[in-house]
Amino acid sequence: MFSYSNSDLYCEQVALADVAARVGTPAYVYSSQTILANYRAYDEAFGALPHAVCYAVKANSSLAVLALLAKAGAGFDIVSGGELARVLAAGGDASRVVFSGVGKTAAELEYALDHGIHSFNCESEPEIALLDSLAARRGIKAGFSIRVNPDVDAATHPYIATGLSQNKFGIAIERARAVYDRARAFAYLSAEGVSCHIGSQILDPAPLLEAVDMLVDLARQLRTAGASIRHLDLGGGLGIAYRPGEIAPAVAAFVAGLRERLAGVDLTVMVEPGRSIVGAAGVLLTRVLYRKQNGAKEFIVVDAAMNDLIRPALYQAHHEIVPLRRNALPPVVADVVGPICESGDFLARDRPMANAMPGDFLAVCAAGAYGFVQSSNYNSRPRAPEVLVDGAAYRVIRQRETYPDLMRGETV
Ligand code: LLP
Repeated sequence: MFSYSNSDLYCEQVALADVAARVGTPAYVYSSQTILANYRAYDEAFGALPHAVCYAVKANSSLAVLALLAKAGAGFDIVSGGELARVLAAGGDASRVVFSGVGKTAAELEYALDHGIHSFNCESEPEIALLDSLAARRGIKAGFSIRVNPDVDAATHPYIATGLSQNKFGIAIERARAVYDRARAFAYLSAEGVSCHIGSQILDPAPLLEAVDMLVDLARQLRTAGASIRHLDLGGGLGIAYRPGEIAPAVAAFVAGLRERLAGVDLTVMVEPGRSIVGAAGVLLTRVLYRKQNGAKEFIVVDAAMNDLIRPALYQAHHEIVPLRRNALPPVVADVVGPICESGDFLARDRPMANAMPGDFLAVCAAGAYGFVQSSNYNSRPRAPEVLVDGAAYRVIRQRETYPDLMRGETV
């Protein structure tokens, strides 16, 4: 829900130039209507099929965003105790939470047990044993699933592919059966499901569907062997369009593919989407500070940097950069760079784009997922504020950090 009206870029009914002027830059802005529409696309596509859409908190964990999704009925996929604390603070329901991650600490497992989360996606045998002993101490039964590693290629950036046997994630699918069998000896665990997550920013859903077939197969075998498997958790991973002309898989079509494969299987389906819910719902606003040329290169120096949005530097990610107010200048090919003292500090390289002069505002698009959450204070830069738009209204949901914030907890 970002579009131009006359020359101004709007988020819903709010002119983004107004937000930039009032809140300052850099600043993240999110469309609540887009977030809700993306969540509902999943929920509605599953229809009557028993399902749970567990939003992956890591993609954007701001309290107001979590609260919006909790109110819409979402469950949550967490990967740390901190994420559970956020879900609870936002009014989320612990009984709709699944806990993923390869390195959960005892303290995190205990915190999650004490809050009665739905299920633990366990990634190793020692983790399963630890969970059992912690549940035993409390005299409660913990629901778990094994995160299987199906060894399928998600065809995405190597840093965000997780379903190959060379990755640290999960338990190899061919070993999973034996691990479930051994886990039956643990009196305080109940095998509730089978889970997987093969990667992120997946544009061709074929490998996701391939993994589903493998999970269904495994769940059937486990049930035949007497296990109580009740759900399949397919993880997240559906990509979004970052580049012009890139086509994101439609959620409805993807879910239709899932339904086809799950027909006649009496299992609750769970998914853990992050990016496909919040990615396209956010932009990072920035202001042009300077223009300069070095050799043949044209630079647009802006006030947002790699500490605000690290995706271009870390994953060679492409984010479209557009003006908040269109001008009549001829287009340019430029590097858009921030103030940080590293050549890796760029938001775009050799980018054909609309021309922009000092004082102009720009929007870095599709920055709602893995944007703010991966931001840092590098170069002692205060983290940007976040703004949530709803119709013609907007509010600051996180204040810009101050210099004292930068030093909180420190002593000389
Ligand atoms: N479930 C699990 C267990 C995950 O590890 C992830 C993401 C998700 C769900 C959500 O995946 P999504 O639907 O958002 O693709 N920082 C990287 C992305 C890392 C994704 C890690 N895991 C980036 O900026 O592209």
